[in-house]
Amino acid sequence: MTTSAPETVLVTGGAGYIGSHTAIALINAGHNVVVIDNYVNSKPDALDVVQELTGTDIVVIEGDVRDRALVEKVIVEHGVTAVIHMAALKAVGESVEMPLEYYGNNLESAISVLDAMKAANCWKFVFSSSATVYGDPESNPIPETASIGATNPYGMTKEMIEVIIRDVAASDDRWKITSLRYFNPVGAHESGQVAEAPVGRPNNLMPMVMEVATGKREKVMVFGDDYPTVDGTGVRDYIHVMDLVEGHVAALEHMSDQDGYEVFNLGQGRGASVLELIAGVEKATGLTIPYEVAGRRAGDIAECVADPTRANEVLGWQTTRSIDQACVDSWNSQAH
Ligand code: NAD
Ligand code: WQD
Repeated sequence: MTTSAPETVLVTGGAGYIGSHTAIALINAGHNVVVIDNYVNSKPDALDVVQELTGTDIVVIEGDVRDRALVEKVIVEHGVTAVIHMAALKAVGESVEMPLEYYGNNLESAISVLDAMKAANCWKFVFSSSATVYGDPESNPIPETASIGATNPYGMTKEMIEVIIRDVAASDDRWKITSLRYFNPVGAHESGQVAEAPVGRPNNLMPMVMEVATGKREKVMVFGDDYPTVDGTGVRDYIHVMDLVEGHVAALEHMSDQDGYEVFNLGQGRGASVLELIAGVEKATGLTIPYEVAGRRAGDIAECVADPTRANEVLGWQTTRSIDQACVDSWNSQAH
């Protein structure tokens, strides 16, 4: 249970992968959850299992958060005291092909939600940002003070929204706004009942490895083995999704001591290569995961690892789950 006063939290995009896990963490900490989602990348029944697991009702509203009047109505009617804004389109490759859809959806959603909050006198806003804002970092691990420079339209939406929320926070001292820069979320709730279920071909490594493990695909294509890393494959900071979502609860509860705008990295502070992640899934499943080395994927970088010191010290938050555990939990969440 929470030690701070219970909040009623609107999670936009709450039917998605991270949102559904966030709902569990919020409820476990004693908060109430309201969700708005238009199901562009999720299913209407995604939160049924969360309600079963927690034995708690969640108010779930189908709608688009670009509808400012709807968001304001939901905030007022349900007594929302804080918003975690996750609703966004998130596929990097698609964002290069459809930049207007990405800038349109992601920027308009953020502005609409902030505007509705202001009208409804609701001032706590947590934003789902991404390590993608660091672009190709000068060095690893990356602190929040590192230079910013996203390299694709999706990443640019995160960078631009960070600028907007910083300015919004500076405009009125009632705002408490936090940007959480996620590294690479993997894994699932320990029940195995809440899955990452991307629509269409997975873009990210773990869902792709899961599709090979479950026999939906023949092999993993490993994008490059000639990077200057431990084994030549790309290194990322994979963070268990339950650790990640607990970081949101910590950020929310820190807001009673917060003035204005804050930024935190949410990562483990340790990297794993593509081959190490595949090995982790082999260990978790007892299967051999076939893979083939292909060329580098356009826009990929060699290494991206968080320095999570600031979140550790200021939020009192630590990761507690290993990558091996994330592989077990991802596997258990698959129908197999
Ligand atoms: P997801 O696609 O599973 O969830 C996003 C949800 O937002 C979906 O359910 C989708 O239907 C909904 N949505 C999109 N636009 C909407 C709109 N206009 N109105 C209402 N609902 C809308 O993605 P996720 O992995 O859960 O990511 C959640 C957030 O975290 C996103 O903002 C994403 O950019 C960010 N993020 C994700 C990762 C990652 O690797 N998964 C990493 C860094 C940041
Ligand atoms: C991880 C590693 C790939 C798939 C992306 C976004 C970032 C964030 C998280 C939202 C890389 C390799 C992958 C495959 C592979 N999302 N890979 N074969 O690229 O670090 O980050 O998702 O904010 O913005 O850019 O994650 O999971 O796609 O890739 O070899 O089939 O796995 O080259 O080294 P990435 P990823």
